[in-house]
Order: sequence, then structure tokens, then C-alpha cells
Amino acid sequence: MVKAVVAGASGGIGQPLSLLLKACPLVDELALYDVVNTPGVAADLSHISTPATVTGYLPENGEGLKKAFTGADIVVIPAGIPRKPGMTRDDLFKINAGIVKGLIEGIAQHCPKAFVLIISNPVNSTVPIAAEVLKRAGVFDPKKLFGVTTLDVVRAETFVAGITGERTPSKLTIPVIGGHSGQTIVPLFSQAQPAVNIPADKYDALVNRVQFGGDEVVKAKDGAGSATLSMAYAGFRFAEKVLKAASGEKGIVEPSYVYLPGVSGGDTIAKATGNDFFSVPIELGPSGAEKAIDVVSKANEQEKKLLEVAYKDLQGNIQKGIDFVHNPP
Ligand code: NAD
Ligand code: LMR
Repeated sequence: MVKAVVAGASGGIGQPLSLLLKACPLVDELALYDVVNTPGVAADLSHISTPATVTGYLPENGEGLKKAFTGADIVVIPAGIPRKPGMTRDDLFKINAGIVKGLIEGIAQHCPKAFVLIISNPVNSTVPIAAEVLKRAGVFDPKKLFGVTTLDVVRAETFVAGITGERTPSKLTIPVIGGHSGQTIVPLFSQAQPAVNIPADKYDALVNRVQFGGDEVVKAKDGAGSATLSMAYAGFRFAEKVLKAASGEKGIVEPSYVYLPGVSGGDTIAKATGNDFFSVPIELGPSGAEKAIDVVSKANEQEKKLLEVAYKDLQGNIQKGIDFVHNPP
């Protein structure tokens, strides 16, 4: 029996993500948690004729969170405010850091063994916050904490297919590594499978579009938020892979932003990048992140230059998250 929880379930990402989880045969029980509207969203989804049972919870002075989280196998977190035009993801830190910290404290207390998938921005800092909270509670399992960077991978697949003419973009495997904001996002087109040929005059614009795809959506939504539907697709794609691997399916690999020293093969990558938190392709298994795959050392010269910029930006983002837990503002 698999219990999945969405924290932030009433939001722009939370609702379509909950819909996809409700439709997923791997989920038996779906608990929706938010500070508003979960009874309505749960009632609506509960009429869908798939096996998963659906319940909705509001905070109720901590009782709702306890009921939602207890017994969870996987918790997906899209709770928090999204960007408006002119904002960076780091501008969301002030509000979202506290939201994520509170939810992770709930996980530490009520479902410390669950897989935790963090969507809330700034991911580069919210994942280190989560790690520190879990460490402090003595329940940190680095193999089970994931920053969801799948939308960057999905965008890379889509934009590359737009150039190469591939009709099914998801047939492409393109490592997108680093972090999840601007220049910390580094696509490694040289390691695409099958190999792709990006014309030299299109390379810079393609890299820029992958790095700033989120801004494209924020601008187009013109004050009404950021990517929600593509994120729900990406969040579900990653959650489904985690669940499939947990149930014993082999050979599942997807990039994710993890605490590298806690994942097999991750130490070398952490040393090479100077960052303990970093997204690389992760081989998933029954216990979560089984192996970090070193694509960094195979980057070509162009990609190495992009990586140098990412390393520096990420260090500040990571430290900011760690400091938030140890020296609260
Ligand atoms: P939204 O405002 O539509 O929804 C957020 C939801 O979180 C709301 O329903 C709100 O009530 C809820 N919430 C707030 N505080 C909460 C708490 N303490 N506990 C539970 N729920 C709480 O925003 P959205 O568009 O769904 O985006 C959510 C977050 O996801 C943002 O931070 C956004 O930047 C981020 N995001 C990340 C990625 C990624 O690739 N990782 C992609 C898109 C968006
Ligand atoms: C995205 O990449 O679309 C998200 O991180 C949301 C944003 O703020 O751009």
C-alpha cells in the first residue's frame, strides 16, 4: 500500500499534480495538505474512478498535518509563493524558507522514512534547509531527499527536439545538472542519448532558453504566477520514477538535486564541483538515490565554462539555506 502526500495541494502546481497522482495506479492513498481549500480539492478528485482514496486536510493546529503525513511513503512539496515578473527565485526565500522548514519538521515527526520531493523555490536553498532540519531531528536519509529539477530536463528535451525535429521529445535523454535557477542550470547536450547535433549558431540561445525557461513562463503569465502545468507533469514524472524504483523496477535514472556525500558515487562529484548539494543523474532504487552518476568529468570545454559559473552561484544559495536553519533571522 503506497500513501502519497501533496503539501501545497490546493495551488497552481498542487492541483494538477494531485490529479496525476490520483490517476496513478501505483498510489493507493492520496492525502492532500494545504492551508486552504483541501476539502474541496479532495472531494472533487475523490469522484474519479481510480483506486486511490483521497483525503484533504487543513492545518487544524497541527492535527491536520499529523493526519496527512502519518504513514506517508512519499511527500511532494509544492507549497509556497511563486514568482512575479521582475523577481528571482531567491526573492522567494524570505517566505518559502519558513514554509518548507515547517513542513519538513512535520515530516521529521510524522513520516521520517518517506521519500521527500521538494518543488518549492528556491530549490537550491530549500533542499539544504530540509537536509539541516532532518539532520537536526536525527532522521536525515540523503537517499530519500530530492530537489525536483525535472522541469529543466523536460524543457531541454522539448527545446532540443524543436531543433532536431525529434517528434517525441521525451525519447531524448539529456543530462541537465547543477541547480535550479538561471546560470546554475547546466544542460550537457554533448551527453544526450541518442546523440544530438546542435548547430553552433543555435547553442548559446538554446542554453539560455533552458536556463531561463522559467522566466519565459513568468513573463507570459504576466503576474499570475509561474509554471504550474508543466511543473505538475515534471513533478509527477519524477514521483512516478521514485515509486517505480521503490517497487523494484530497475534501470531508472533521472537527474535530481541531492546531498551528494550521502549518495554512492556522490563524494567525488561533490569534491569536483565544490558543492555538497548538486543535481546529477541519479540511479533510483528501492531505498531511493542508489547512485550518483558522474557526468561532470565528461563535460566538454563549452560546458565546463558553464559549470564554473554554476559552482560559484550554488555555493551562496546552499550556505543561505544552511544558515537559515542554524541562525534563524
Ligand atoms: P501557488 O501559490 O499557486 O500554490 C502554492 C500553494 O501552497 C497554495 O495553495 C498555498 O495555500 C500553499 N501553501 C502556502 N503555505 C503553505 C503551508 N505552510 N503548508 C501547506 N501549503 C501551503 O504556487 P505554485 O505556482 O503552485 O508554486 C508553488 C512553488 O513551486 C513556488 O515556490 C514556485 O516557485 C515553485 N516552483 C518550482 C518549480 C521547480 O521546477 N522546482 C517549478 C515551478 C514552480
Ligand atoms: C520554473 O523553472 O518554471 C520554476 O522554478 C518557477 C520559476 O519561478 O521560474
